[in-house]
Amino acid sequence: MPNKTYKVLKDAKSRALIDDDTYQKWYKQSIKDPEKFWDKHGKRIDWFKPYTKVKNTSFTGKVSIKWFEDGLTNVSYNCIDRHLEKRGDQVAIIWEGDNPYDDKKITYKELYDHVCRLANVMKANGVKKGDRVTIYMPMIPEAAYAMLACTRIGAIHSIVFGGFSPDALAGRITDCKSTFVITADEGLRGGKKIPLKHNTDLAIKIAERDGVVVQKVLVVQRTAGKVEWFADRDIWYHEAVASAKPDCPPAKMKAEDPLFILYTSGSTGKPKGVLHTTGGYLVYASMTHEYVFDYHPGDIYWCTADVGWVTGHSYIVYGPLANGATTLMFEGVPNYPSPSRFWDVIDKHQVNIFYTAPTAIRALMGAGDDHVTKTSRKSLRTLGSVGEPINPEAWIWYYNVVGDKRCPIVDTWWQTETGGILITPLPGATPLKPGSATRPFFGVQPQLVDNDGDVLEGTAEGNLCIVDSWPGQMRTVYGDHERFIQTYFSTYKGKYFTGDGCRRDDDGYYWITGRVDDVINVSGHRMGTAEVESALVSHDAVSEAAVVGYPHDLKGQGIYCYITLMEGQEGTDELRKALVNHVRHEIGPIASPDKIQFSPGLPKTRSGKIMRRILRKIAEDEFGALGDTSTLADPSVVDDLIANRQNKK
Ligand code: WT7
Repeated sequence: MPNKTYKVLKDAKSRALIDDDTYQKWYKQSIKDPEKFWDKHGKRIDWFKPYTKVKNTSFTGKVSIKWFEDGLTNVSYNCIDRHLEKRGDQVAIIWEGDNPYDDKKITYKELYDHVCRLANVMKANGVKKGDRVTIYMPMIPEAAYAMLACTRIGAIHSIVFGGFSPDALAGRITDCKSTFVITADEGLRGGKKIPLKHNTDLAIKIAERDGVVVQKVLVVQRTAGKVEWFADRDIWYHEAVASAKPDCPPAKMKAEDPLFILYTSGSTGKPKGVLHTTGGYLVYASMTHEYVFDYHPGDIYWCTADVGWVTGHSYIVYGPLANGATTLMFEGVPNYPSPSRFWDVIDKHQVNIFYTAPTAIRALMGAGDDHVTKTSRKSLRTLGSVGEPINPEAWIWYYNVVGDKRCPIVDTWWQTETGGILITPLPGATPLKPGSATRPFFGVQPQLVDNDGDVLEGTAEGNLCIVDSWPGQMRTVYGDHERFIQTYFSTYKGKYFTGDGCRRDDDGYYWITGRVDDVINVSGHRMGTAEVESALVSHDAVSEAAVVGYPHDLKGQGIYCYITLMEGQEGTDELRKALVNHVRHEIGPIASPDKIQFSPGLPKTRSGKIMRRILRKIAEDEFGALGDTSTLADPSVVDDLIANRQNKK
């Protein structure tokens, strides 16, 4: 079964924008002469002033990445205005609420009206070009309006996922000194309410203590639940937009003007503000959306991500709307009110292209085939996967049961930092292998290196680097360019290091094996083990903490915590519960520890470095293969760790 190849489906090939010959030809051109290739494809978006310079990038020294730098454009103009003449009455956004009886459709003309009004409200409340606007919202159309309204006036948005805690929100508000926040009274997911406005109130207090004073909070009424109100700061969204002017000229933005900041976890320290800019990002997001999903005009396209993650930015909002697509936005969760929800929504809205995450696929696979097979899914044409490696069992189920063996699966590998998809099949061009992200997209040059940085050729396994720039690449860590250089370009000099391990097979296909740094991927959510550790040690009972990931059937990776307690503390189940709650409170429910092991000591070298390799092995219940433990300061701690492991098979 492993390595079985699925040939390109006949139907997929006959309608495809890109067949295999075209892929080969374009790929070669894109590497041989990137200037010429991107000069041509940069024109897929509209420019107020055309660029004359295409690529100006360097991965060495100070690291500088500029694309289309002398061009002027505007993202909201490209996502809305330019479609008005031809498809003003076409639906831009289908919104499917948490409750299956709750939905609505927004045409491009209506989108224009909503976005312009909101942009005018923001301007009237003092938001200017370059200001940072924090968006902390549920999956409702107003989240997309908010993003687009920022881009219309040149404000930089920073979206914080609605599942993050007040503390996490506050950290992101203070880091980019954001003084304008857009939120909702409450979110609604799987029938449960999330107190977004209340969390915002708390976060603003914390931010104020850290020296950043939020001036205005714009509040969408979603549930009409009770909220506290601060009259000189809070504004009801519906009241403000009702009286705003319905036109707002798009700001002329330089290609390299910042578009958005999105915080993401790394192996050390606080989450980093990944900065994406205007022109190159939009070119890359729209181009990958079109070719990777083989998007044709009129298609109904659905990506199940949340706009709080980069997938939502590039493949719910910017890529699809730049292409004039109909994009579906889903407020709910895969198993509410039943595990048929995804497939019901596909039938209800006649979805053609469906893009989701392995963790959802695995959960729905576990719920049984009946929930799928009782629905039609005839409208489906292309399936996508993103967020973590997809295990071949889940891939095959997705292909056979969900796609009825008629739909190619595009397993798309990319990162918050890359802005768009880098390694992926193309539906009409690439023979598929379950579990492989297959081949690089145009302009992308992957390279495998060993731990010394030596380049590995041919069939090999190593650390995945990208050797030259592509237009969607992040430009810097907001406010900390040095950290950008350190994190991505210093491990292997002159190369962008992804943090992922990867294997290349005999056919030149890429197989991502997962992170090789201290980043874990829990249900497709990216987390730094250091962040969870720092949340744990902030609890009074905890002296030291070490966190590692371990294989988890549904989540991909689970969170395993080793904890040494303060003198006099006892490792009880009650304390376990308290620590889980503490982490949820500090970071958010997505960071809930799965296993907590109390231990009198952690395995450290004589210089005090925790040997995570050993902790990972024990968490995996693979303690027979611990390797050399002779450099430990106190090798006996290992016996205790093994005896009290929490993940016995
Ligand atoms: C990390 C990036 C890109 C959107 C969602 C996650 C892992 C992502 C795949 C895939 C194997 C994948 C990598 C990567 N990852 N897609 N198709 N196959 N691994 O974005 O939160 O920035 O996480 O997700 O480990 O480095 P992110």
